[in-house]
Amino acid sequence: MPSTLAPDVRADSYPLVDLVEGVVRSTELEVGGKRYPVLLLRRSGKVQAFLNACPHQYLPLDFQGNNLLSADGSMLMCSMHGAMFTIDNGECVNGPCAGANLTAIAVHEENDRLKLDAVLW
Ligand code: FES
Repeated sequence: MPSTLAPDVRADSYPLVDLVEGVVRSTELEVGGKRYPVLLLRRSGKVQAFLNACPHQYLPLDFQGNNLLSADGSMLMCSMHGAMFTIDNGECVNGPCAGANLTAIAVHEENDRLKLDAVLW
C-alpha cells in the first residue's frame, strides 16, 4: 500500500506539485535506463536539477543532513565539509572544491511531472 506521506516518485519522474519554492528534494530518477541521485529545487518558478554528488569527494550533498540551502536561499550547501554552490550554475564558490561544479541536468515537464533529459558528465 503506498504511503500517503511520501511524494509520488516514479522511477523516471517526480511530481511537479511537490517541488515548491525554497525546498530541495533529494531523490533518484531514471533516464536512459540508468538511475541517478539528484537534487531538485524550484527557484523563481523554474525547476533545476543537479546530480547529487559533491565534486569534492563525490558524496551526496545530504550525506550528513538535509539542510542544503543557505539562509538566504541563494546557495546549495554540502553537508559534509560545507562547500557552497550557486544555484544558477552549480559552481562551488566557497569550500574545498572551489571552482568545480555540480553537474547540472536539463529537465522537462510532462503531464505535471518532472523528467530528466540526458545526464551529461
Ligand atoms: S564532500 Fe562536499 S565539501 Fe567535501
